[in-house]
Amino acid sequence: MKILVTGGLGFIGSHTVVELQNEGFEVVIIDNLSNSSEEVLKGIFAITGKMPLFEKLDLREKKSVQEFFKEHNDVNGVIHFAASKAVGESVENPLLYYENNLGTLVYILQELEKKDEANFIFSSSCTVYGQAEKMPITENALVQQPMSPYGNSKKIGEEIIIDTAKATNINAILLRYFNPIGSHPSAEIGELPLGVPQNLVPFITQTGFGLRQELSVFGDDYPTPDGTAIRDYIHVVDLAKAHVIALQRLLNKKNLDKVETFNLGTGTGSSVLEVIHSFEKVSGKKLPYKIVPRREGDITEAYANTDKANNVLGWKAQSTLDEAMASAWKWEQKIRG
Ligand code: WQD
Repeated sequence: MKILVTGGLGFIGSHTVVELQNEGFEVVIIDNLSNSSEEVLKGIFAITGKMPLFEKLDLREKKSVQEFFKEHNDVNGVIHFAASKAVGESVENPLLYYENNLGTLVYILQELEKKDEANFIFSSSCTVYGQAEKMPITENALVQQPMSPYGNSKKIGEEIIIDTAKATNINAILLRYFNPIGSHPSAEIGELPLGVPQNLVPFITQTGFGLRQELSVFGDDYPTPDGTAIRDYIHVVDLAKAHVIALQRLLNKKNLDKVETFNLGTGTGSSVLEVIHSFEKVSGKKLPYKIVPRREGDITEAYANTDKANNVLGWKAQSTLDEAMASAWKWEQKIRG
């Protein structure tokens, strides 16, 4: 069974390649290296002892996508991570996001619809819920108009997949991530944010290491217990394992519908201050931070109802916030060491 992982040298992609190899799958990675590096292949090999196939390819080039599927005509499962994912950048450059996140999705699906059987796992996001009415968030919570073109590209991507699955042999699972954090315990792979990190945890670990002067906490006037916003931070290895379980569900034809959706979180919400305190506990370091005004577009809280993932998909996150923060800190020290 050869599995294609697009964006497989990225943060979640590389951790998923490791878990696929651990389950005995042969993996071929497509990545255009716009937000990753070939060095990540060495990290994967260091963990599993298996070197995945790798093709540097831009999925926006339809011809290249067609040629890839001709060459690798034994691919019968695709896990699709490749996408741009910076919320702020998407507001400034929406067309880059619609072309890169949706054009490429269409080209891949056009190749899969030619196959007698095709299994497709889509990297989606809880951002499609916007600020959900009720916590914890279930899969049938209202999908609202996301606050950014990035979020909208995930929402439209899901709709494209649903329409396509209805009309073709493609079976799909949409995985809506909450907030992925941490790194593989080996510290051979991890998050490699380019430039100034947009996300909370890499900014914290870089500040802890002294690369950033202090963390700006975006608002402490939210209607939450300590005033800072709440998210569901899930260890990236737990998230990667969920992808393998979802793929196996389709390969073994256990899916109940042509398209199934699962929220992937821990089910526990943590505030920004709680994440800071977790970092201080696991690192033994005091984290310098200041409270600044809210960031445009941020929501107050989001954490997952994990019943469906636990009971239908048969997956449950194992790591605690402290374990995830400790792995993120270990990785930061490794790459800066
Ligand atoms: C988390 C919390 C910030 C940075 C986004 C995307 C989501 C997914 C994950 C890709 C918020 C606060 C952050 C900082 C802060 N992306 N914060 N200071 O915005 O929940 O989710 O990234 O898959 O789709 O929407 O994640 O890490 O940016 O922020 O106070 O320097 O930390 O306000 O409350 P977010 P985040």
